Amino acid sequence: MGYFRDNIEKAKGYEPGFQPVEADVVKLNTNENPYPPSPAVMKAISEIGPEQLRRYPDPTGNAFREVMAQINGVEADWIMCCNGGDDLLRMAFTAFCDRRRPVTYPVPTYSLYPVLASIQNCRAIEVPFDKEFNLPARLARVKAALTIVCNPNAPSGTFISAGELGSLTSEAKGILLIDEAYVDFAERNCTELVKQFDNVIILRSMSKGYSLAGLRFGYAIARPEIIAGLMKVKDSYNVDAIAIAAATAAIKDREYFRQNIEKVKLERKRLTEQLRDLGFEMPESAANFVLAEHKACRAKEIYEKLVQRNIHVRYWDKVGIENKLRITVGTKEQNDTLLSALKEIVSA
Ligand SMILES: Cc1ncc(COP(=O)(O)O)c(C=O)c1O
Repeated sequence: MGYFRDNIEKAKGYEPGFQPVEADVVKLNTNENPYPPSPAVMKAISEIGPEQLRRYPDPTGNAFREVMAQINGVEADWIMCCNGGDDLLRMAFTAFCDRRRPVTYPVPTYSLYPVLASIQNCRAIEVPFDKEFNLPARLARVKAALTIVCNPNAPSGTFISAGELGSLTSEAKGILLIDEAYVDFAERNCTELVKQFDNVIILRSMSKGYSLAGLRFGYAIARPEIIAGLMKVKDSYNVDAIAIAAATAAIKDREYFRQNIEKVKLERKRLTEQLRDLGFEMPESAANFVLAEHKACRAKEIYEKLVQRNIHVRYWDKVGIENKLRITVGTKEQNDTLLSALKEIVSA
């Protein structure tokens, strides 16, 4: 017998997108926001005093919870802070899944879900999306302890309405976790479902809409009874004092946030149109990336030729997406560099 539990021994682990160290690369592979965080964030970090570092942080990050609760029209005990959205996903698997309590989710989707299932040693029932990424009717019939719907979905960028997810919630047994990591770039969100149903958890991330991927901050919205249960499985101090101060400053600066999102949406529209002009097909995206497939050229070849030009997008050799590229919306300059490289590649 090895040192590790059997399922850990067999697990592959999560494969993060490539993080190049050189400065002169066009990095459009991990869905970071191309614009900097609000100046209020930098100010809050610079004002951190030694006393805040000497002491443990507030274990529940109440300063953040109160502001975020107001933004979402709920009370502070409906919010839980976490060390990035991934921390909440890990907590959900710990709290709801085991060998007798499976997880289900439509695929293709965020590749961390099966990794967390293998760590928790629970069965993952994967239900394929159709070609248009509609919510599969079968999902409600699986009767899993935890159903996850990524919305907007990664890597497709497609959005499922709150109405459809509401029907799933009333049919499904167990918890429905709606992974809204990218929802800041969508026109709508599903917060209303938390108010209507007692089995919904909304996941949000500060990494994308607030340009804070390096900070590691996310949050859950759910009924207080669900939040209280999740609190039992969180790390004692899962968000640090610097992160609480910085994330709270970010969410208070509503105008900066709004402008940042608008800039990304405008570039997403332009990138989508120009990629279509180059012969790419893609579903309408409600996120800060697009999932593009070229009518004549293989995705793998395009990907490799882009890497040679120091341009990084995401490519997976996986069923359903083997001929697609997931491209993060960058700045105008980054998108122009990408588009002119693609023009050369697809017309060669
Ligand atoms: C679909 C999805 N959910 C959750 C996360 C977690 O984000 P973070 O832990 O950076 O908040 C990501 C990160 O890329 C994601 O793509």
